[in-house]
Amino acid sequence: MSEKAGKIIKVAGPLVVASGMKGAKMYEVVQVSDQKLIGEIIELKDDTASIQVYEETSGLGPGEPVYQTGKPLSVELGPGLLKSIYDGIQRPLNLIREQAGDYITRGVEVPSLDREKTWKFTPVVKDGDEVSEGDILGEVPESATIVHKVMVPPGVTGKVENIKAGDFNIVEPIAKVGGKNVAMLQVWPIRKPRPVKQKLVPTEPLITGQRSIDTFFPVVKGGAACIPGPFGSGKTVTQHQLAKWADADIIIFIGCGERGNEMTEVLIEFPELIDPKSGKALMERTVLIANTSNMPVAAREASIYTGMTLAEYYRDMGYNVALMADSTSRWAEALREMSGRLEEMPGEEGYPAYLGSRTASFYERAGYIKCLGSDDSKERIGSLTAIGAVSPPGGDLSEPVTQNTLRVVKVFWGLDAALAYRRHFPAINWLTSYSLYIKDIEDYTKKNYGSDWPDMVRESLNLLQEEAKLEEIVRLVGVESLSAKEQLVLDTTKTLREDYLFQDSFDDADTYASPKKMYAILKTILTYHHESLAALEAGNKNIKDITGSPLKDRISRTRMIEEKNISEIDKLTEDIKSEINK
Ligand SMILES: Nc1ncnc2c1ncn2[C@@H]1O[C@H](COP(=O)(O)OP(=O)(O)OP(=O)(O)O)[C@@H](O)[C@H]1O
Ligand SMILES: [Mg+2]
Repeated sequence: MSEKAGKIIKVAGPLVVASGMKGAKMYEVVQVSDQKLIGEIIELKDDTASIQVYEETSGLGPGEPVYQTGKPLSVELGPGLLKSIYDGIQRPLNLIREQAGDYITRGVEVPSLDREKTWKFTPVVKDGDEVSEGDILGEVPESATIVHKVMVPPGVTGKVENIKAGDFNIVEPIAKVGGKNVAMLQVWPIRKPRPVKQKLVPTEPLITGQRSIDTFFPVVKGGAACIPGPFGSGKTVTQHQLAKWADADIIIFIGCGERGNEMTEVLIEFPELIDPKSGKALMERTVLIANTSNMPVAAREASIYTGMTLAEYYRDMGYNVALMADSTSRWAEALREMSGRLEEMPGEEGYPAYLGSRTASFYERAGYIKCLGSDDSKERIGSLTAIGAVSPPGGDLSEPVTQNTLRVVKVFWGLDAALAYRRHFPAINWLTSYSLYIKDIEDYTKKNYGSDWPDMVRESLNLLQEEAKLEEIVRLVGVESLSAKEQLVLDTTKTLREDYLFQDSFDDADTYASPKKMYAILKTILTYHHESLAALEAGNKNIKDITGSPLKDRISRTRMIEEKNISEIDKLTEDIKSEINK
């Protein structure tokens, strides 16, 4: 570390202003006072720096030194990330707790990744091979379920020499590339997106097993989605469901909680989740970032970039990564607080004018990409899907955080307090939610779900929209005023809502539905609708026969049918065809 030091001239909560910071750069990390508190320069005017401090600043005062480091705020990348629980600037919470007790004491220096632990490195290249940045040098079994790919760091290119095999810690050289020693550890600044070879147009859905999402409001691998919802509407349960069930390899979960219970969700509930794919802990393929309430707001601001950088690193290995932030509103509040202390001109509701561009630059780091690397024959595709929960105060979606988020994401899962109150879960409002990816994945769904899938989806959504109009009429003049056909629409949409959109996260059979199962159930419901329409038109049945048929009970049980028995649902569809219209 250089001995260049400025002097504190003002302390305002997490913000420290220092003068005499010659040669300092924006976003440079500094050490504040002789306690060496970690801070980051977020504003520079000549030699005066405003510093966001990631530790408690009480007791600091003017005149104390501020040391420059010349380095941007960075994270450590390498084996050992999975299963870790970090704070917003990648300090391992468990280790800190061991060293310093329950409260993070100031200036504790614990490396993000263990320097002692050794990992079994198996090379995939040999001496004399030409490699360039992003190429895979070798593999390490990182956790029970994930193989870590050790890559040539960005900026390094050349001939491989002295490649090793065996057990090494992350700082020992495992090869020389272009004359430079390369170890498993890499360092990357959090505010700078990691380079990719090419951004591609996403074409594959991220299958979540949640019927409402995968059917009507799908997200793609490499896409961006948001879940706005008022207090208690199911944001966290939805994110946990996605973490468990989505067909992503790696989960990065950022908990930006504030209230006690939100942190319990992150620190206690999340590590208990079981990975349905392996039967082991979900943490085996997860990195958790938890902003505990005893940490200054500034760390919360940094946490989403820390998480994003870790996610990009696994994406670069060729994995499908899903990053979840719960909730981004707490991040935006941290931004607002820092902006207020900087005495910047406030924008809407006190948020800084750059809330929009910051939000965009976060979600824009999502993508479906060709990974960096030279060997086209072994081309890797990786994806990073970003899913942010938003907690609009009072559920008011016109507030700035929601609005700025909607400007960049292409999927909106609007959680609805009224639905949650009626215990319709997931409480995703089917009339207001949307996905702009439906067209991008149409070919995929036709090929993999069923050629008529897009038509079935459209028809179901149309019925649900018609229901909203018919309900208005019923409210005004009663159900008797509806024609038999209109009554049938209401009956079908009731089935759609209660037996398809409704999904119980806590029921073993219902919690996940494969595309095959979704297709089978939706087919059954729509077949019933079509056959009933035909029967009404032909005069073969009246509406009471249709709504009261025992077949309806069988439909309502389909969601509880296990994956291995899906043929029972197809059988039901056949029974409907042979029984209703005759
Ligand atoms: N998909 C679901 N299936 C069954 N129950 C659900 C589902 N989603 C939410 N719930 C119920 O709603 C409760 C509240 O959900 P959750 O904690 O996810 O809300 P939240 O939006 O994260 O709330 P907060 O604003 O407090 O963070 C859960 O404890 C659970 O009982
Ligand atoms: Mg929550």
